[in-house]
Amino acid sequence: MANTAKKGFDCALRKAKGSMAAWLDGRKVLVALPLMGLLSFYIYSLTLRETKTQYQSNQFSFDDVRFDLDYARYKSNSGAKFDVSRHMLRFESKQNVTKTSKISHAKRLPNAIIIGVRKGGTRALLEFLRLHPKVKTCTREIHFFDNNDNYLRGLEWYRQQMPDSLPGDITIEKTPSYFVTDKVPKRIYEMSQNVKLIVILRDPTERAISDYVQVQLKKPDRMPSFETFVTKGEELRSSISAIQIGLYIEHLRKWLNYFPISQLHFVSMENMTITPSVELQAVEKFLNLEPFINEKLFYFNETKGFPCFSANAQGRNRNSGCLSAEKGRPHPVIRSNILKLLRDYYRPYNQELYKEVHRDFGWP
Ligand SMILES: *[C@@H]1O[C@H](CO)[C@@H](O)[C@H](O)[C@H]1NC(C)=O
Ligand SMILES: *[C@@H]1O[C@H](CO)[C@@H](O)[C@H](O)[C@H]1NC(C)=O
Ligand SMILES: *[C@@H]1O[C@H](CO)[C@@H](O)[C@H](O)[C@H]1NC(C)=O
Repeated sequence: MANTAKKGFDCALRKAKGSMAAWLDGRKVLVALPLMGLLSFYIYSLTLRETKTQYQSNQFSFDDVRFDLDYARYKSNSGAKFDVSRHMLRFESKQNVTKTSKISHAKRLPNAIIIGVRKGGTRALLEFLRLHPKVKTCTREIHFFDNNDNYLRGLEWYRQQMPDSLPGDITIEKTPSYFVTDKVPKRIYEMSQNVKLIVILRDPTERAISDYVQVQLKKPDRMPSFETFVTKGEELRSSISAIQIGLYIEHLRKWLNYFPISQLHFVSMENMTITPSVELQAVEKFLNLEPFINEKLFYFNETKGFPCFSANAQGRNRNSGCLSAEKGRPHPVIRSNILKLLRDYYRPYNQELYKEVHRDFGWP
């Protein structure tokens, strides 16, 4: 029985093979190949149309796509072989998320970078932003664009340093020295022309004192008093970095050679201390995030003189409570003539900054 069936099957197979060979024989191939080509193209264009509607339906932010394209362009410009298949894979995996609602974690280059300033409250800003469920942050400072050794490791290395994120999330890195390092604006521009840049600013005089306090804690024996540290005779030692960093407008101009001012957002450290939710809501808006952060997530700790996370923030942030004790250290009392020297020095630069960013930070 089984044998007959097998024979019958073999026979049918042979017949099929025969007719296939006959069919493929000769000029018919010339007709079949272009037809198959047309069919593939049709299927391909269907896929494209589907992708487009998915993006339009706002399942993925447009920034995501633009960013991927930037990355692709960067890679092909930089002479590195651009791996189209990997790029398409990322594209496809995004489609999978929509189709199956499966979670697709991946490391992605940052959409936004907190570029400065040192001692301006960058850590606090990053920790506060992390309250937002769509914000994913690097826990440490990466120093990719300002450190040549890291930069030579390439963008792929940089990407590997990023936290896992989902499509539509905002990945944020912060390295405060980016703002004052000359070669950084160009390098970031070469990674992406669309990356958003956040700078948290603080009264430059207070910033200089805070900088001093941090250095002094590391080498308490060798540091002179602040007054001695920043002056030489009657003059300000304006060339030292603790003072140079506070010339915000000078640093900002280097960025404006590459990025329009609209791509930078400035946070007032003074106002973030008093009304964190107001400053953070402005950042949410800048990053096109749906509103999430509100005043109920914080309370003001009088001892610390700084906002801490309230019970409402529990579970939203691993660092619930207050930021570590080393943040918001008390400042020494500085002689008033030295304070005046610093303030007079910074004032004209501050005024120019206010004009450039259309915001008066109200520093004395
Ligand atoms: C998309 O999903 C299908 C089916 O689950 C899977 O076979 C395929 O590998 C996925 N593609 C990507 C790029 O993740
Ligand atoms: C305020 O901050 C101080 C110093 O970090 C801390 O010891 C204290 O517990 C905090 N107070 C409240 C009410 O959270
Ligand atoms: C800080 O907040 C105060 C009070 O709301 C406001 O008047 C001032 O303009 C804010 N400063 C900046 C730099 O936005």
